[in-house]
Amino acid sequence: MTSVGIDAIEIHTGKLRLDLPETFAPAMGDAPEKYTKGLGLHASSFPDTYEDIVTMGANAAHRLMTRKGLEPDDIGRIDVATESAFDQSKPVSTYIAGCLEQVFEGDFHHANKGERKFACVAGTQSIDDAYNWIRAGRHRDRAALVIATDTALYARDDPGEATQGAGAVAMLIDEDPDLVELSNEQGFGSADETDFLKPQQQFPSVDGKRSVNVYLARMREALIDYQRVAGTIHAEDFRLGPFHTPFPGMVRKAAVLAYRHITRDTEIEDELEAEIGRQPRHEEFDDDEAYMEALSEYTDALQGTERYKTWYARTIDPTLDISRHVGNWYTGSVHVARVSGLKSLAEDGEDAVGERLLVGSYGSGAQAEIHVETIQENWLEEIDALNIDEQLEARYELTFEEYEDVHDAHNYDEDAVVEEFTVPDSEFVFDGWGRMGERKYRFVE
Ligand code: CAA
Repeated sequence: MTSVGIDAIEIHTGKLRLDLPETFAPAMGDAPEKYTKGLGLHASSFPDTYEDIVTMGANAAHRLMTRKGLEPDDIGRIDVATESAFDQSKPVSTYIAGCLEQVFEGDFHHANKGERKFACVAGTQSIDDAYNWIRAGRHRDRAALVIATDTALYARDDPGEATQGAGAVAMLIDEDPDLVELSNEQGFGSADETDFLKPQQQFPSVDGKRSVNVYLARMREALIDYQRVAGTIHAEDFRLGPFHTPFPGMVRKAAVLAYRHITRDTEIEDELEAEIGRQPRHEEFDDDEAYMEALSEYTDALQGTERYKTWYARTIDPTLDISRHVGNWYTGSVHVARVSGLKSLAEDGEDAVGERLLVGSYGSGAQAEIHVETIQENWLEEIDALNIDEQLEARYELTFEEYEDVHDAHNYDEDAVVEEFTVPDSEFVFDGWGRMGERKYRFVE
């Protein structure tokens, strides 16, 4: 079977930075530890006034195509995943293709373009579409460009405001990929849920506490479904576990449940028995409440074992490094987690070729998807080419008053005129409105 996967990745972060413990917490009357320890977040990335989902996506794609020496003719498909779209009909991919045509010779007139919507899981769904298109042999030797781009802003004073972020991830899906190969097997956990939605509104309506439980429930179902098709998996089968990361504290909750699930009936459960007992089994309990209580006690104890802490530090923690400094990027978030983990392996000088990743994507509404990726021969070259550290370092530091202004500048209901904070350099920028209400863009040299 042809190997299909992610050939290259580029990340573009919003160019402003909001410090959460130092700037946001005091203004909100919160303890800084709520952010650094509870949510696991230090900062959010924000879009400058000339940035939006199109500029960030086009800038990531531009860098990717330039670095890989690609022309528009090499791309047969452009799919954009976003939950921040501003047009109910014309897909964001057409705006991004229009941007790219300003700087590349040729055009994308024969590329199939679309926009994928299922909250944060849509980026992974777009990869899935590209994978199927290539596997079906309909790609005519061309690759697919998948762009996950979001301005993940919440209404002011919504609890979600703590987890905001903005950025884009561009990914090239191709045969014989340089970075990771995708498994054919995948598992789903999907149900009609009302936890996070935007019915004809810019900022989400969120039932925050419920959304956390829905994430955990759907992820568990997806894991069980994955095992149904791929067979039993073992905790040590995977070098990294990149999960959808709305905030690192969410992944901390998910990881221990996943570990508990995949270590049941294994030698790890046997080895831990003397220390914390065996996992409670439903059939041993007369009522659900007693079972849930015992399960919760076991999970707390499991989290405190050296065995678990070592697994978490090696498999999960490295995937959270970037997220801690950028916040939630919705559709891009799980793809940032993958990059973060691989970047950490590169920094540690690991020979990771052939190692496997257990990737858990999630979108509210709600659906989780689990698949496996295998690290390819040229992965290091791809990871070394990223300039995410320089981008993060170069962000403009917002004061709280400036944060309030820039939030207003991006709020459709506010008529705020706010000066840009940074100077655009060799990038696409928002350039005002066209005669039919469309957003216009230009490349600034
Ligand atoms: N020191 C240490 N920890 C502290 C602390 C302190 N001084 N103060 C608070 N904390 C801890 C809390 O104990 C809590 O941790 P636990 O959940 O482990 O107990 C954590 O910090 C957050 O504190 P609160 O629960 O009090 O925070 P909150 O009620 O203000 O909001 C939230 C938390 C519900 C997640 C909110 O940020 C939110 O609504 N976020 C948006 C929704 C979201 O991201 N949901 C995630 C699942 S859905 C999804 O993944 C899709 C998506 O991308 C949106």
